[in-house]
Amino acid sequence: MEKTTPLFLQALSGAVTKTAPIWLMRQAGRYLPEYREVRKKAGSFLNLCFSPELAAEVTLQPIRRFDFDAAIIFSDILVIPYALGQGLSFIEGEGPQLEPLKNFQELGFKNFEKKLLPGYEALRLTKAGLSRDKALIGFAGAPWTLACYMINSRGDGEFKKAVEYMREKKSEFSILIDLLCEAVAQHLIFQLRNGADAVQIFDSWAGLLSGDEFDLWVTAPAQKIVSRVREKIPGALIIGFPRQAGEKYVSYAKQTGVSAIGLDPVANLAQFSAKTCLQGNLSPESLLAGGDVMRLETERILNNTRNRPFIFNLGHGVIKETPPDNVAALVKIVRDFKR
Ligand code: CP3
Repeated sequence: MEKTTPLFLQALSGAVTKTAPIWLMRQAGRYLPEYREVRKKAGSFLNLCFSPELAAEVTLQPIRRFDFDAAIIFSDILVIPYALGQGLSFIEGEGPQLEPLKNFQELGFKNFEKKLLPGYEALRLTKAGLSRDKALIGFAGAPWTLACYMINSRGDGEFKKAVEYMREKKSEFSILIDLLCEAVAQHLIFQLRNGADAVQIFDSWAGLLSGDEFDLWVTAPAQKIVSRVREKIPGALIIGFPRQAGEKYVSYAKQTGVSAIGLDPVANLAQFSAKTCLQGNLSPESLLAGGDVMRLETERILNNTRNRPFIFNLGHGVIKETPPDNVAALVKIVRDFKR
């Protein structure tokens, strides 16, 4: 591999690197004063996502401040339902809210690409602003997690309405999941064609399912998406993050063929073959705490992943009260650790 290949892409391609590359989920966001300033200027969160210059700026902020190995494009998983025609708003202090769906016929691809274009321009601008040793990550929500928000209208951590719908209206639900597989694959392909070096599929609520339901609504859709993306872009680098998959992580990794697997804070690293690239899995609470708590946990993770391809990350997103100094200290610990 070329010397200039970003460390992050080396690890994602299966190399055991001398230091572990590091980036953090939600590395751009409200814990950074420079983000809060741009966010204020943008007005609404969606306006920030769809203003290419501003989105590129907040994507690059954490790279400048912390020198992470990869930038993740500033956007949200819910831009897919929005682009399929479901109204979306972000209510201050409450999080996202989607318009209630009467039926899935309201959804379609008519304006899909057009609505997402500003995000693709943000990717191109970001790419132009990144040095060659840094990688750019695109992303999308996985069908199951998107369906949770789309059916429930909002996030409540339980998504009872979505789970009930999945069980009682299985054939309609299956049609929705197929539509979302198509939408997610397209969105990932567009991102890869507009500057993303790799993409991550966020299945934040995968842990609500188990057994056959997990295989059907988490693993199978991810497998379908991976193969569709690679039909168009052979060898595309894809990270799968089926959060809280527990014992299902291994079969998910095997069946989907993802390039790396994102692990939540309690996932067991030992269950994977030594060839699988892992990503994670410091708890966001340890980063919030900082000091010895963070250092000991970080070193434990680094020690347990010495002889395998590995990307350092959190097991979930940065908590907004996290002191930026803790993040700087974390990057130093990871860089000073020789694998
Ligand atoms: O830095 C990055 O990681 C890239 C940007 C990013 C955001 N959301 C920005 C954001 C990414 C990758 C996401 C993914 C996302 N969005 C997920 C999957 C990951 C996860 O957290 O499980 C989910 C479930 C969402 C949906 C979503 N968006 C929720 C539930 C919320 C409200 C929670 C909150 O923190 O306010 C959002 C809003 C959101 N997305 C913010 C950011 C920076 C905060 C909005 C603001 O600045 O006011």
